[in-house]
Amino acid sequence: MPTASRRSGTSLEILREEASNCRACPLWKGATQTVFGEGPQTAQIMLVGEQPGDKEDLAGKPFVGPAGLMLDRALVEAGVDRNKVYVTNAVKHFKFVPRGKVRLHQKPSTSEIKACRQWYERELASLKPVLVVAMGATAAQCVFGKITPINKNRGRLIDLEDEIKALVTVHPSYLLRLPDADAKAQEYKRFVDDLRIAADLLRKSARAA
Ligand code: URA
Repeated sequence: MPTASRRSGTSLEILREEASNCRACPLWKGATQTVFGEGPQTAQIMLVGEQPGDKEDLAGKPFVGPAGLMLDRALVEAGVDRNKVYVTNAVKHFKFVPRGKVRLHQKPSTSEIKACRQWYERELASLKPVLVVAMGATAAQCVFGKITPINKNRGRLIDLEDEIKALVTVHPSYLLRLPDADAKAQEYKRFVDDLRIAADLLRKSARAA
C-alpha cells in the first residue's frame, strides 16, 4: 500500500488553522469555508468521507447533514461512539453547481482529490490512529492514493502503514440514494457490519494498551 508522507505530528488545531486558508485547488472560490476534520486528538479511528455537502459547507463541520444522520445511526448500532472518532473528508471544500436556489453536489475530480490529500496526510500524521475507515470511492482513492474499488476491498482490514489499518466501506449517501426499501435495509445492515469491524478492532487495541 502507498505510504502517506509522515510529516511531524502538528496538532489538529494548527492544521485546521492552516487549512482555513488553503488555495491548493479552485474549489475554495465557491465554497463558504474549509470544512476540516473534527474529533479528539486522541481518536483511534479516523473516518473519511468524500467532501462537505451543502449543510456542512454552511456549518463548517463534517457530516452534519442527512448523510451524517445516517452515519450517526450506524455508528450507534455498531457500538462506535462518534465523540471518540475523528471525522473528516478527502476534499475539504464543497464542490457544487448552482441550480436556482439550490447547490447541487458535484463529485470531486482526481486533481482536486490529489490537491487536498496533503491535509489527509497531515491529519493522519497528527492523529496516528489505529484505523482509517474510507467511506466510498473518493475516500478510498484518497486513503490508498489510487482508485480502489469498494466492493472488492470492503469489509476487511487492510495494512496501510506504520501499523495503521484501513477499512473500506460504502458512503452513507449511497444508502440514502437507494430507491428500493429492501435493498436499502440490506445495504444499511452491511454498512453497520463493516463498522462493527472498527468497533472490534478498537476493543482489541484497548485491551492490548
Ligand atoms: N458527505 C461527505 O462525504 N462528507 C460530509 O461531510 C457530508 C456528506
